[in-house]
Amino acid sequence: MKLLVLNGPNLNFLGIREPEIYGKETLDDLRHMVEDYCAERDVEVEFYQSNHEGDLVDAIQQAYGRIDGIVFNPAAYTHTSVALGDALKAVAIPTVEVHISDVTTREDFRQISYVRPACIATVMGLGFAGYLKAVDLLLEKSRSNEK
Ligand code: DQA
Repeated sequence: MKLLVLNGPNLNFLGIREPEIYGKETLDDLRHMVEDYCAERDVEVEFYQSNHEGDLVDAIQQAYGRIDGIVFNPAAYTHTSVALGDALKAVAIPTVEVHISDVTTREDFRQISYVRPACIATVMGLGFAGYLKAVDLLLEKSRSNEK
C-alpha cells in the first residue's frame, strides 16, 4: 500500500500562518507525524507540497498506476479549482479531502469544494489528526476492496 499526502498553497507556512486557526506546528512536524503513523502500519508514503495549481495537477497525474490512495489538503484551491477535481476524477485513485480547520464554520467562499465530488470522504476540523484519520479511511477502503 502506497499513499501520497498532498498539500496545497500556504501549507508550507504552517506554524507561521494564522496559528489561532492552523496551530503552531510546522509542515515538517506534520510530515514526521504522518510518516511515523504510516511506518507503524507498514504503509509507504510520499509527501508533497506545492503553492502552484499545475504542480498539484502534475503530482496527481504522476500518482496514476503508482499510488493506492491520496490524502489531499488542496487548501485555498479547494474552493476554486475545477482542474484539481478533474485530475482526481481522471486518475480515479481513492482520495480523502482533508482540512485542518472546520471550513463549515468559516467564510461563505469556503463552503464550496471542487474536489469533494471526486473524494471518498472529507475530514475537517481535527487539526493534524485529520491526516491520520484520512490514512485510516484509505486503509479501510483498500481492505474492503480486497474482500
Ligand atoms: C484549509 C482551509 C482552506 O479554506 C484554506 O484556504 C487553507 C487551509 C485547512 O486546512 O483548513 O489554506 O484547507
